[in-house]
Amino acid sequence: MTKRVILITGASSGMGYAATELFAKHGWHVYAGARRVEKIPTGPSIQPLHLDVTDADSRQQFVEDALADGLRIDVLLNNAGYGEFGPIEEVGLDKVHKQLETNLVGASELTKLVLPQMRQQGSGRIINNSSIGGDVYSPLGGWYYVTKRGLNVWSDVLDTEIRQFGLRSIIIEPGGTESSWLDIAMSNALDNLTAGSPYTPLAEGTRKLLGGMLKTAEATSEDLAKVFYRAATERHPKRRYYFGLTDRMLARFARNHPGMFHEGMSLIVGRLTRNKS
Ligand SMILES: NC(=O)c1ccc[n+]([C@@H]2O[C@H](COP(=O)([O-])OP(=O)(O)OC[C@H]3O[C@@H](n4cnc5c(N)ncnc54)[C@H](OP(=O)(O)O)[C@@H]3O)[C@@H](O)[C@H]2O)c1
Repeated sequence: MTKRVILITGASSGMGYAATELFAKHGWHVYAGARRVEKIPTGPSIQPLHLDVTDADSRQQFVEDALADGLRIDVLLNNAGYGEFGPIEEVGLDKVHKQLETNLVGASELTKLVLPQMRQQGSGRIINNSSIGGDVYSPLGGWYYVTKRGLNVWSDVLDTEIRQFGLRSIIIEPGGTESSWLDIAMSNALDNLTAGSPYTPLAEGTRKLLGGMLKTAEATSEDLAKVFYRAATERHPKRRYYFGLTDRMLARFARNHPGMFHEGMSLIVGRLTRNKS
């Protein structure tokens, strides 16, 4: 059987790191990209490559390096991402652009680079690591949730366009998962506050809320790597994958009862800010 091939973005940490190891363990050839190339796992069937998903030349080089070996591309796992947290009023436009470029536009541009090869093969999957944040939200994550909700819509549209070629676009919606994500998002939330910001109590409250939720998260990055693997290998892949029932139910509740979800979140936020004032 020919070796299956996957391109993974954000392979230097968390879920992308775990996915690189898991797919390699299952005998796949892995082209693993990240900016911190030295942190990408190594192994006989892992090719660590420098990749900045926000940089057009870097994206082009990443895909060219993968195609240069003359192999197929069975899966592109768009996983690279981070949370540019901070109150909407105070997050600078440069940070907004960086957030959109990393989590959404970069994924789309990389996808465009692999689709010709996949169409030629008549098979292939684009697996997009979104978040339950594609359905639910909290304060301070405005632009992050925009990218994840956007990625969901983008993936669904793409899926309707590429199924005719035997290809699929799939969304994974992780809930709280052990990785560097929370520390980066919360440090951004503090960095994005202006001096003497009126949002300081909200930022502290939200940090506790999300920190508490994510610290008790059941999922590890290795758990999510297994979900990616299912999405890559199931004969009839689903449009959405979740790690656990709680994530699935929470996302479904927010989708089906947006008003109730919003009022519930506003109540929690009201408590967070009252406690701080
Ligand atoms: N952890 C959670 O609770 C959670 C929940 C839902 C969804 N997610 C999503 O899951 C994905 C993976 O995050 P994680 O939890 O594994 O976090 P992580 O440990 O912080 O890993 C993020 C990865 O993204 C890469 N990355 C960031 N900016 C990049 C860029 N411009 N170009 C290339 N790579 C870049 C990082 O690599 P370099 O810095 O080396 O480039 C790193 O490998 C993200 O899309 C995140 O939004 C996470």
